[in-house]
Amino acid sequence: MNPSDRLDAIIAGHSGREGPLLPILNDIQAAFGCVDEHAKRHIASALNLSRAEVHGVVSFYHDYKAQPSALPVVKLCRAEACQARGSEALAGDVTGIAQGKCEIEAVYCLGLCSVGPNAMIGDNVYARLDKQSLQHLIEAL
Ligand code: FES
Repeated sequence: MNPSDRLDAIIAGHSGREGPLLPILNDIQAAFGCVDEHAKRHIASALNLSRAEVHGVVSFYHDYKAQPSALPVVKLCRAEACQARGSEALAGDVTGIAQGKCEIEAVYCLGLCSVGPNAMIGDNVYARLDKQSLQHLIEAL
């Protein structure tokens, strides 16, 4: 199936749904690893929106990437509660370990503030991280 057909199939899967833009964007991000310009134009045309309207939503949310990541992404929480529990130092501790293995991306709250520092890899969230446990997760990627 070519990319345009895959986009059509994703969009058709949300046909008749009220407010389909975000669910469509989520599915496209999951399927392609990004929401690129072609996808934005395709969505705009299908939903009768301007490309600027679609771009405005895509650029508002950090989870939508312009191009797929070459490496797995480790989303390390850097919001206040996790910062208070050492996430900044943790990020510095694993920078060298992560090089060439994954991208460390700053995110701002994963909703588990009381058990930080936290990170998310794929759909899994990991809590109470320290240098050793985060290093172990990175090495397992
Ligand atoms: S501040 Fe890190 S999960 Fe909320």
